[in-house]
Amino acid sequence: MQEEIKAIVESYGRDKAFLVPILQDIQSRCNYLPRDILLELAEELAIPHSLVFSVATFYKAFSLTPRGKHIINVCLGTACHVRGAPLILDTLERNLKLKAGTTGADGNFTLETVNCVGACAVGPIMLVDEEYHGQMTVSKAEKVIGSLKKGDHS
Ligand code: FES
Repeated sequence: MQEEIKAIVESYGRDKAFLVPILQDIQSRCNYLPRDILLELAEELAIPHSLVFSVATFYKAFSLTPRGKHIINVCLGTACHVRGAPLILDTLERNLKLKAGTTGADGNFTLETVNCVGACAVGPIMLVDEEYHGQMTVSKAEKVIGSLKKGDHS
């Protein structure tokens, strides 16, 4: 992994101003931000460990714990909220047996919430591994989860 981290840091010109996109790249590669890699990153960028950890914990999009194979996000922004997003979230929590913000023990699903992803016109929005699913309903959400469980969804 050390070489991969070096390559990511190099691709941003070893510039600490790009700490956030560097963290995004590491997260997309590892699915979360492992602690040992953050320590390595601080060394590579010659910045304090505390700076890397404070940025990594400040943004909700970053996770310091392993996330599931599939990341399900429900938008709870105002427009989606008034169109029934809380009901969709309740359904997903029951269906996946997970509370929002957690990952199942089997590592298959992480359920998260987000506040507006800029697609209010087609809300409520559910994101599956960053793919937008608009005009979500309880039955559509159950169908999407059902196909993910069966492995039909890429
Ligand atoms: S409130 Fe959900 S996309 Fe804007």
